[in-house]
Amino acid sequence: RPARVAVLGASLRKQSFNVRLAALAARMAATHGAEVRTVGFGDLTVPPLDTDALETDGVPEGARRFGDLLTETDGFIIAAPEYNYSVSGVLKNLIDWTSRIRPWPFTGRNGLLLSASTGAVGGVRGLWALRVPLEGLGAHVYPDMFPLAYAETALTADDDLADSALRERLDRLVGAFVDLTRTHALRRNV
Ligand code: FNR
Repeated sequence: RPARVAVLGASLRKQSFNVRLAALAARMAATHGAEVRTVGFGDLTVPPLDTDALETDGVPEGARRFGDLLTETDGFIIAAPEYNYSVSGVLKNLIDWTSRIRPWPFTGRNGLLLSASTGAVGGVRGLWALRVPLEGLGAHVYPDMFPLAYAETALTADDDLADSALRERLDRLVGAFVDLTRTHALRRNV
């Protein structure tokens, strides 16, 4: 069976570069044979984590939706912005809420991390920070990550990469990730 891959662009901004990069990665994953499920970050909105609210009301709907999506898929691709050299508080808050679900929805899932930034470094420092909680929660985060620098010129109007060599790199990375995710899913026998 094909690898099932969830794709998330983790920004609420309407013209988000990360959402656009996630859309490109989703198209690439589909051409490599994955069954792709994209999710809007706005559909995963959760309040600031409050463990009193957790005890009284349980895990909020946005995190449950994210948990269900992860549980129903073999792997995930997240394109996430770097905020102040780290992972955005909005995404970390969602991960923290999701970590209250048992069993952990991230466990055994393959993950590929991308970032897009207006800056020269492309957001890779944020991805190093994002790896930590995901790996702590049992995800197999792919060793290679893809930061896209100068996103406003690197992305074309139709959400592709202007530089063909860079496009080729991302396509090969997504292809390798889809293949690995499929192999792991077959081994898990699900
Ligand atoms: C940023 N930005 C940013 N960029 C970067 O490369 N390194 C950084 O540390 C930061 N820090 C940062 C903090 C905050 C609070 C904001 C709002 C922005 C710029 C960021 O890369 C840019 O706004 C991107 O456009 C954000 O991604 P989306 O929303 O376009 O996907």
